[in-house]
Amino acid sequence: MEKILAVYNSRFSNLHEIKISPLSRAYTFSDSVYEVIPFYNFELIAFDKHISRLRNSCNALNLVLDFKKTTKEILQLISESNLKNGYVYYQVSRGVDAIRSHIFNDNLSIETFGYVVEHVFKSQKLKVMLCEDLRWKRCDIKSTSLLGNVMSMNNAKKKACDEVIMHKENILTEGGASNLFFTDDKTVFTPSISTNILPGITRELLINEIKDAGIQVIEDEFNINDLKNAESIWLTSSTKGVAQVSDVFDLEVSLIEDHPLYLRCNKIFNEKFLGGC
Ligand code: PDD
Repeated sequence: MEKILAVYNSRFSNLHEIKISPLSRAYTFSDSVYEVIPFYNFELIAFDKHISRLRNSCNALNLVLDFKKTTKEILQLISESNLKNGYVYYQVSRGVDAIRSHIFNDNLSIETFGYVVEHVFKSQKLKVMLCEDLRWKRCDIKSTSLLGNVMSMNNAKKKACDEVIMHKENILTEGGASNLFFTDDKTVFTPSISTNILPGITRELLINEIKDAGIQVIEDEFNINDLKNAESIWLTSSTKGVAQVSDVFDLEVSLIEDHPLYLRCNKIFNEKFLGGC
């Protein structure tokens, strides 16, 4: 079995050696939050922003995490792995209950778990499916409770799609595991944070960089019709970078492949964060 360096409750070992109680609230209730933190050429990408979002997620659930320890563990995972490019998955759960109960004991010890894997950051073209956003009202929390995303993305897979674009009663939200961008010939549009989406770090980095380069970005509420008229659609995430959408299943679109605005923005992002790859 492949060796994957992991850490569980601050003990480092091979991922496959870790034993976890079935009464972990991460297991019974998804009472847990997580981060996916990328690194490229041994350098973490926007580490402070990931830690700050993890803090927000923990605060929302009243999880009291030792952030100093977590930071040290993430850095150690990367340095001991000797991997050049990859990401760390890090999860924080409320802990292990004596018996399954919705209402948790106040004296539970926080349970943490992380691992590091190699990842190839490469430009992708994604086929996506449009679907209703089935999720709850707190998508700003990076919770491990992802059934809406899992169901939609696996339905999309049956149609030979790689991702989804979700909408709530016609209002566009985000991808199943990514944020949504689209363009006309010169302006970049993206659903605003107030549309109940995850405040993606890649989204934020991209917006800042392309605005600095003089490109107009509009964050607002958009609908499916806006997407129909798009010249280019992209999805962003820590593992996908800025990936262009090649086709939308079940929606008539006329996308321009390798749109000049996509190429420009992708280049700006890659040069800043991914060594220009
Ligand atoms: N997912 N929206 C959702 C629902 C996501 O799950 C993700 C990332 C994003 C993009 O966020 P960021 O740019 O911070 O990675 C948006 C991670 C990669 C995952 O669950 O694997």
